[in-house]
Formats: sequence, structure tokens, C-alpha cells
Amino acid sequence: MATDPVPGFNTRAVHEGCGFSGSTGAVMPPVFLTSTFERGNPDGFDYTRSGNPNFRLLEQSAASLERARFATCFASGVSAITAVVSGLKAGDIVVAEENVYGCTYRLFDRVFGKFGVRVVYADLAESGNWGLIREHRPALVWLESPTNPLLKVLDLAGIAAVAREVGAPVLVDNTFASPYLQRPLDLGATLSLSSTTKYINGHSDCLGGVVVSNDPEWQERLLFAQKALGLQPSPFDAWLTVRGQRTMALRMERHCSNALFLAHWLEGLAGVRRVGYPFLASHPQRELARRQMRGGSGILTVELEGSAEQALAFAQRLKWFTLAESLGGVESLVCHPATMTHASVPREVRLQVGIADGLLRLSVGIEDPEDLQRDIDHALNDVFR
Ligand SMILES: Cc1ncc(COP(=O)(O)O)c(C=O)c1O
Repeated sequence: MATDPVPGFNTRAVHEGCGFSGSTGAVMPPVFLTSTFERGNPDGFDYTRSGNPNFRLLEQSAASLERARFATCFASGVSAITAVVSGLKAGDIVVAEENVYGCTYRLFDRVFGKFGVRVVYADLAESGNWGLIREHRPALVWLESPTNPLLKVLDLAGIAAVAREVGAPVLVDNTFASPYLQRPLDLGATLSLSSTTKYINGHSDCLGGVVVSNDPEWQERLLFAQKALGLQPSPFDAWLTVRGQRTMALRMERHCSNALFLAHWLEGLAGVRRVGYPFLASHPQRELARRQMRGGSGILTVELEGSAEQALAFAQRLKWFTLAESLGGVESLVCHPATMTHASVPREVRLQVGIADGLLRLSVGIEDPEDLQRDIDHALNDVFR
């Protein structure tokens, strides 16, 4: 007898994580605002730090969307990173992409460094540097693609193949792509991590993180970290995240088309030095991006001519883009890394890694693209023309 094919992404996004309706018939799950559970209950819950029905629903749907066996949810993306790295021990080496999210770098540098975990950074967009993985035989390879904020795209399958030669597990921070656009486990990664604060929830109303894998040992470590380090989300935030996740595919399609439209238009404009977007012909890893991602996602970088003050003035004049950190919500945001996310990095270091004074990161929302285009045009006119 023919079996039904695995349901598609949208069907899974809408229907996974709907259980626990109990005897009420509620179509959507309630929020289980309880810290503790009566001993001996059939589902095996005991205390919300180590599990809650809302976490389980989120974990089921997150695993299903990446076609993974396991998922563990956390209070934030940074909690998820903490959980993974807490599985290492003193003396372990991590080989990491050099342009990782700033707080990932800070955790390695200021927290896990104290406990003896050493990180070797390299430009892993250059295949010539993959030999470092063979040389160090690391306890973990840490990748991010596209990277924050420079939107470098790494060859996940290529790097995972090298890591496999020496038995090194590979983590991919998949936050910028989202599970709709990229599935790292299918490309050979051991762990796929997302800050659900961004595209998975998509509404900028709560923080969260999730790690998915097919590896029972890692899953055990992650569940242990969730409860032993107290990294669990609130049930309400887990509930909000499941709700957001249901519309992820629709939102991502719109983020991608809006961002591509703006990226094309911005590329030819006076006053714009450079535009970065994975699906633009001018992006150095565009062919790779098209192979491993289903769309370019909603983030683009624009480097304006002129000073840091002018770039900031431009960002402040925008009406539909709010000047704020974060990304991945339905609303458009703009960030000026030189005075915001990377303000504490010395200017020479910042310039060396490609974060110029005039660089802006746009998180393109799902608004009407013509409104966003007009908004940018007015602000450019005010500041530069
Ligand atoms: C790539 C990436 N990973 C992880 C995080 C951390 O996520 P959270 O802010 O939810 O802790 C962020 C946040 O911006 C991010 O951009």
C-alpha cells in the first residue's frame, strides 16, 4: 500500500505543535503557566525548568521543520549557544568562522575562555583555511551562514565533509537563514541553532533559541543544559514562538522578495558604495548561496559614502525602518554597526573585518516594497544629495 509523502513545510508548520488539547477540543494549545506538575502524571513532566508542555510543542514543531529527530528550546539564542558550548570541557578546541555574531565571540572570549575552551578563528569562506580543522581536530566546528553582519556565505556541506574526516561535530548558527531557507543537518551539520527571537517567531515580541539535531548524545547534553543551567524559556514565550512559526514560510517569501527588490535598486544609486545580499550577482558566494539556500533572506547591508555621522543621520531619517538592534521581525529595522552593535570594537579592528563607518544593516520587513523604497530614497536625498 502506498504511504503518504511527508507533508510539506507549511503543513508541518501549521499542524505540528498543536497537541495537549486534552478534553476541551481547543484547536490551539493553551499556555501552561505552571512551575510544577503532580508527580506520576502520564506525560512525565515534573518541573518547568526541565520541561513543560509548551516547550514540548515548540520542540516538536522545530524538529519537524528541519526534518530532525530532536530539538531543545532555550530562553534566547545566547542561551542556546551557552547550552551547546557547556557540553565542551577544559582543553577542548573550537575552530570557528571569524565573522560570528558578536555575543558568540564575547561568550567564547570572556566566559568559556575562563574555563579552558580555546577558539581558533579563521575565514572559513576560504577553502584554503579548512585544513585548520584537520590540523586541530577540534571538539566543535562553529559556523554561521549567512554571517552577522557581513552576510558571508559558508560552504556548509564542504566544511562538514572535512570535519567528518576527523570526527569533529559541526554547529551551524542558522539564525539569518531560518529553517525555511536552509537546512544545515541535510548538508552534514551535527547541530543547527537558531535564535527564534528572529525569523522563527518573527514578531519581535519575545526572545528564544532552539537547537535541533539527529544525535542522541548531543540531545542528552542539551536537555541537561536546559535544566542544569536554568536556560529554559517561559511557557508563554514558547507558546508565542509556536504561533509565530506557523506563518514562517509566508513571511520568509516576502522578506526575500522585498530584500532582493531593494538590493537590486540600491546597487545602482549615487551615494551607495556597496550593497551586500547573498542572492545579488555581485555577492562573492552567490552561486553557493543559491545552492544551499532557498532564498536570500531578509537582511542586506548597504555601505554609504561619507562619514559614520552621515550614515547614522540617514538611518535616523527613515520612517518605516526603526533604528534598533535585532532583525527578522515583520517590521523593518535598520542598524548602524559602527555606533551600535560594534561600538565597543576599536575602529581599526572594525575596519579590518569589513565593518566600515558607512555600513548599515537593514532587516527588511514584510511591508509594501514601494513604501520602503520611497523611504530610503527620501532619506538619501536629505542626507547626501
Ligand atoms: C546570528 C545570531 N545568533 C544568535 C543571536 C542571539 O540571539 P538572542 O538575541 O535571541 O539571544 C543573534 C542575535 O542577534 C544572532 O544574530
